[in-house]
Amino acid sequence: DGKIPHTFVVFGASGDLAKKKIYPTLWWLYRDDLLPKPTKICGYARSKLTVQGLKALCQPYMKVQSSEQKKYDEFWSLNNYVAGPYDVGTGYELLDQQLQKMENRFKANRIFYLALPPTVYDQVTLNIKNNCMSKRGWNRVIVEKPFGRDDVTSKALSDHLASLFEEEQLYRIDHYLGKEMVQNLMTIRFGNKILSSTWNRENIASVLITFKEPFGTQGRGGYFDEFGIIRDVMQNHLLQILSLVAMEKPCSCHPDDIRDEKVKVLKCIQPLQLNDMVLGQYVGNPSGKTEDERTGYLDDPTVNNSSTTPTYAMAVININNERWQGVPFILRCGKALNERKAEVRIQYQDVPGDIFEGNSKRNELVIRVQPGEALYFKMMTKSPGITFDIEETELDLTYEHRYRHSYLPDAYERLILDVFCGSQMHFVRSDELREAWRIFTPILHKIEREHTPPIPYLYGSRGPKEADRKCEENNFIYYGSYKWHGNKPT
Ligand code: BG6
Repeated sequence: DGKIPHTFVVFGASGDLAKKKIYPTLWWLYRDDLLPKPTKICGYARSKLTVQGLKALCQPYMKVQSSEQKKYDEFWSLNNYVAGPYDVGTGYELLDQQLQKMENRFKANRIFYLALPPTVYDQVTLNIKNNCMSKRGWNRVIVEKPFGRDDVTSKALSDHLASLFEEEQLYRIDHYLGKEMVQNLMTIRFGNKILSSTWNRENIASVLITFKEPFGTQGRGGYFDEFGIIRDVMQNHLLQILSLVAMEKPCSCHPDDIRDEKVKVLKCIQPLQLNDMVLGQYVGNPSGKTEDERTGYLDDPTVNNSSTTPTYAMAVININNERWQGVPFILRCGKALNERKAEVRIQYQDVPGDIFEGNSKRNELVIRVQPGEALYFKMMTKSPGITFDIEETELDLTYEHRYRHSYLPDAYERLILDVFCGSQMHFVRSDELREAWRIFTPILHKIEREHTPPIPYLYGSRGPKEADRKCEENNFIYYGSYKWHGNKPT
């Protein structure tokens, strides 16, 4: 539908997500001529604001170069803003009138982005359906997590959305699915014979999927304390990565074929138990350099000061199928740790019949999601020179070196563009979500009911020691003898 105009509606336009992510993303797409033409944008929120006011709110996040000023002004001239309540229809009638005006009453497609707290999802979607749907073009709705807080609340939300929209109209964002290396998992696995034939329990010892951040709650304590790291990162981002690493080969690249396989592998996972997990909560580091480093989770004024909400979690997942039985998938994620990093580490088994006096270390394939996208294979080699010693080295595909001139768009840019194009490949289907909650709900309820005390760890550390032990017990060997040299200028 090339020439049919699009209208992009941002609900919660004056909020944090909108100004930090959604408007900047729309601008970058427009700047790079990726946004289909013509597209207009309309914000909606309770705050009385003008487009000028909105522009000022977004300004710090837009990254505008001085040479782009003209285009930047053009971008804002495509914008409108309507103030109104979330809970009564009249605001939405006004919004619809505004949208029709922007569309010159012609046929247009509409995208509704819900950058909103989950408490208002129900009423907003109902009101969209009753008042704001494009009559002749298509309508698509983008929703952000949290998709509920357990199986029951998530089902209620799914049922509510399903009563209003078709699954084809719903785009549930998990922005990790928009990242270059996460999107690359399919190609790495299914486009390389050498990998596809070793991708199984006969060759792989364990799989470690890591997410680390070097900062704490940073003003999001209120939200975070209610959800915790398991809901914030593990149940969605890490489990999505796990399903792409572990799923069987889909019969095609069609979005539903892929998502069918993701669901299937999730179905082979039992709900987690407490002894599969390590939970932690950061405490301030008294010798930290910044105020933030000295501030523990419980010192955050927006966090309940007896909170047992985990800010660090490790979970060991077993996939009970023919490919993976006995291979631990270790998910670990945490805030206020020693570095920023997200990666998948596939650790291969020891070489049988050792002739190197135990000096051979395990191969590892590392898919580095961020920062600095890379794929590297850790392997043994003879130390160069006269010696016959052996040492660890790597086959290194660091994007910054190999693809120096490629531009890697931000996850949100790809995902929002996918919505315009109608591609649901990188979005979460409702049955995937149901399986994810099935796996995590019992443990979440248990730790909340019993206030399971998390293990304290120091801001800026590697997390609780117990987590390293858990890795060891689960066939992941950390040698500490090797440092990857990638990402350094050559
Ligand atoms: C979000 C979480 O989904 O992902 C945040 O709510 C987290 O707590 C963020 O910081 C991490 O995203 P990225 O893209 O910066 O790795």
